[in-house]
Amino acid sequence: MKPEIILTARGHAGTMATLQSEFTCHPLFEAPDREKFLKKHAGTVRGLATFGPMPVDGQLMDALPKLEIISNFGVGVDAINLDDAKKRRIIVTNTPDVLNDCVADTALALVLGTLRKFHQSELYLRAGHWAARGPYPLTTSAGGKTLGILGLGRIGEVIAKRAQACGMQIRYHNRNRKDVPYAYDPDPVTLARNCDVLIVVTPATAQTARIINAEVLDALGPQGHLVNIARGSVVDEPVLLRYLQEKRIAGAGLDVFADEPRVPPEFFTLDNAVLFPHVGSATVETRKAMGDLQIENLRLHFAGKPVKTRVV
Ligand code: 8YV
Repeated sequence: MKPEIILTARGHAGTMATLQSEFTCHPLFEAPDREKFLKKHAGTVRGLATFGPMPVDGQLMDALPKLEIISNFGVGVDAINLDDAKKRRIIVTNTPDVLNDCVADTALALVLGTLRKFHQSELYLRAGHWAARGPYPLTTSAGGKTLGILGLGRIGEVIAKRAQACGMQIRYHNRNRKDVPYAYDPDPVTLARNCDVLIVVTPATAQTARIINAEVLDALGPQGHLVNIARGSVVDEPVLLRYLQEKRIAGAGLDVFADEPRVPPEFFTLDNAVLFPHVGSATVETRKAMGDLQIENLRLHFAGKPVKTRVV
C-alpha cells in the first residue's frame, strides 16, 4: 500500500509524476469542495506535499488527524504555521541549499539591473529611441558600491560572493553576528544607512513582517536601491511604492510581492523599478532538485528513517 498524501497545489510535471508514482496523491487544488475533500481523506492521509503560498495552519492539521509530515517545495516555510505543527508533533521539511545558486543569480540580476537599468535601456532600444533621441542616459556602477545584506544565511552568503566578484563591498545585519569577513550593522536602519544597495534575504516571520519600512527607506535615501528576493511581506509595499514614485529612494528590484501573483498596477508605470514574477529558483534544473528533495523527505519518512532537511 502506498502512503497517502495531499498535494496543496500543482508542482511541475516531473515532480508531480514522481509523487504520483510513489504515493497515492489527492490534489486539494482540484477539489470543488474543500471541506468535503478533507473529510473524505481525514482517516488515511499521512502526508502533505505543499507548494506555494496556501496557508497550512492548525485548522488544516486538525482536519487531518493522521498527518505525520508536511514536505514543502521551497526553502521558505512561511505559509506553514510551524508552532501548530510542533504542537501536533508533525514533521516539517523544506528544500534548502539546492536553490542557493539560482536564487543568488536572480539576486545579482536585480542588483545589476537596478543600478544599470539594463531592462529599461532595452525598452528604450525597442521603442526606437536610440536612433531618434541618442544614447541611453548614464546609470550607476556596481563596482565600489556597498551591498547591505539583510539576512546573511545560506543564500545571503552565496549572493555576497557574487557581489564581491562585481567589485562590491559587503555589510550585513542578522539577529546574531556571524563569523564572516563582512562588516556587521546592529539593525536594519544602520545597515540601510551604510550601504548603496540593500538586499532583503531574510525569512518571512512575525518578527520580519514589514521590516523594510519608511524609517529604513529614509536611511537608504535618494541614492539608495532596494532589492527584495525574500517575501513581499517583509516590505511595507504601499510605503515602498510611494517612495519609488516620489524618488525618495533611487530604485528597486523586486522578485516578490505581498499578494502574489497580484501586483499593484502602480508598480508597472515606474521607471525606477525592475520587477520579476517570483522567478528566484525558477529553472528546470533547480526546480527538479527541489522536487527531488521534497520527495526524498517523504520517502525517508514513510520508510521509517530520519528526513533529510527537517525544519521542525
Ligand atoms: C519558490 C521560494 O518560488 O524556495 C522558496 O522559498 O520562494 C522559491 O524557490 C517557491 O517555493 C515556489 O513554490
